[in-house]
Amino acid sequence: MPNGFPAVAAAVIVLTAARVSDAEGSNLLIPKTETTRMDPKFNGTSQNVTATVGRRAVLSCTIENLGTHKIGWMKAEDQTILSFHERVVASNGRFKVNHENHRTWYLTILDVQKTDKGCYMCQVNTIEMQKQISCLDVLVPPDIITDESSPDLTLMETENATLTCNATGNPEPRITWKRENGQPLLMRTGTRDLITKHNTFTGNDLKLWRLDRRQTGVYFCIASNGIPPAVSKRITLSVYFPPVIAVPNQLLGAPIGTDVTLECHVESYPKSINYWVRNRTKMLMDGPKHVLRETISGYKAAYYIIIKMFDQTDVGTYNCISTNSIGSSEGTLRVYELQGDIPIGKSSKNKVARSSACPKHMHIVTVAALTAAVWARAIG
Ligand SMILES: *[C@@H]1O[C@H](CO)[C@@H](O)[C@H](O)[C@H]1NC(C)=O
Ligand SMILES: *[C@@H]1O[C@H](CO)[C@@H](O)[C@H](O)[C@H]1NC(C)=O
Ligand SMILES: *[C@@H]1O[C@H](CO)[C@@H](O)[C@H](O)[C@H]1NC(C)=O
Ligand SMILES: *[C@@H]1O[C@H](CO)[C@@H](O)[C@H](O)[C@H]1NC(C)=O
Ligand SMILES: *[C@@H]1O[C@H](CO)[C@@H](O)[C@H](O)[C@H]1NC(C)=O
Repeated sequence: MPNGFPAVAAAVIVLTAARVSDAEGSNLLIPKTETTRMDPKFNGTSQNVTATVGRRAVLSCTIENLGTHKIGWMKAEDQTILSFHERVVASNGRFKVNHENHRTWYLTILDVQKTDKGCYMCQVNTIEMQKQISCLDVLVPPDIITDESSPDLTLMETENATLTCNATGNPEPRITWKRENGQPLLMRTGTRDLITKHNTFTGNDLKLWRLDRRQTGVYFCIASNGIPPAVSKRITLSVYFPPVIAVPNQLLGAPIGTDVTLECHVESYPKSINYWVRNRTKMLMDGPKHVLRETISGYKAAYYIIIKMFDQTDVGTYNCISTNSIGSSEGTLRVYELQGDIPIGKSSKNKVARSSACPKHMHIVTVAALTAAVWARAIG
């Protein structure tokens, strides 16, 4: 009778057990209570570990009553066996295993690598496998990813620029922006035209809306995450614009026989080529008759021509012309002979002055004192 068979078999086993129990005075089928207490057992909970790349990390587990059982360390994610009892299995020489009295077991990782980050299992080979998991976090100093960061940039004034820096590291690095030589960062806030000054800016993207010529310069993005060293990248921003000329004195009257200084100011980036022409025909060269001077500071320059021993042939229209790769600009100055040879002004040396003789339709912007100062500077 097929249905009855399993029931009979079960009964036989129960009977056998009862007989053994009777014969020995103890039950062999159920482990002794003493043995249960002596089974290997982890003492305490696992501890997570943090180590900086290149340093060493030590993971541990404490097991009571190990007896003849064995301890193994494994990488949790891919179940790679790293050590079996006192023997290191990992081919990589950076792993070491040791123990204190077969009770506390250590897995030491030398020269910790980023890839060592993860969880590790301390296993005991009991029938019902026991394990304890410790996780290793690897701290990595920041590193700027060049491919994901801005190169040097050249843009036109009024265009928008975004300077970007991306860095790896653990914890995730923070990006701070600064300008060279402690210059402030100039930024437009929101949609307003107002440009405000900031010592630093924090964030991966430094957005510069409607570029201004004053934003030309060297920028540094600094990546830091508390794990030294912090690193930085240098980005040069060039804001190009065509030359813009300003003429302090457009009309100059000079007595015969004196020296006359003509002056033009230009803002330009890239730097402009600056020169003078007379009567729209002749380019004036540096020499005994015409002394040319130029002073440059950043994107600003001032340039001068000194007409030596002014005479009637020097009367006429002079143009200062500035040209760069974006465009060109010119300023116009008129020089006339000052009759009556008494210049107005405090300085007797002043060779240029206001004159009542100048034509009424011309706008007079001559400032004698300024011209005298320029004169002194130009002569050196
Ligand atoms: C765990 O370890 C501590 C000391 O490290 C010891 O006092 C305690 O008895 C241990 N616990 C067990 C269950 O063995
Ligand atoms: C150890 O780290 C793992 C992974 O980061 C986390 O899940 C676990 O809660 C941590 N354990 C302890 C005891 O902090
Ligand atoms: C910077 O890195 C983040 C995360 O890896 C990425 O999502 C982002 O696109 C990167 N930025 C640039 C500009 O590459
Ligand atoms: C610059 O950015 C602003 C705000 O995003 C936008 O309105 C403007 O059109 C941009 N200008 C240029 C020249 O792309
Ligand atoms: C320049 O033009 C002025 C006025 O037209 C004239 O008097 C002067 O002789 C000219 N000078 C030269 C060198 O051509």
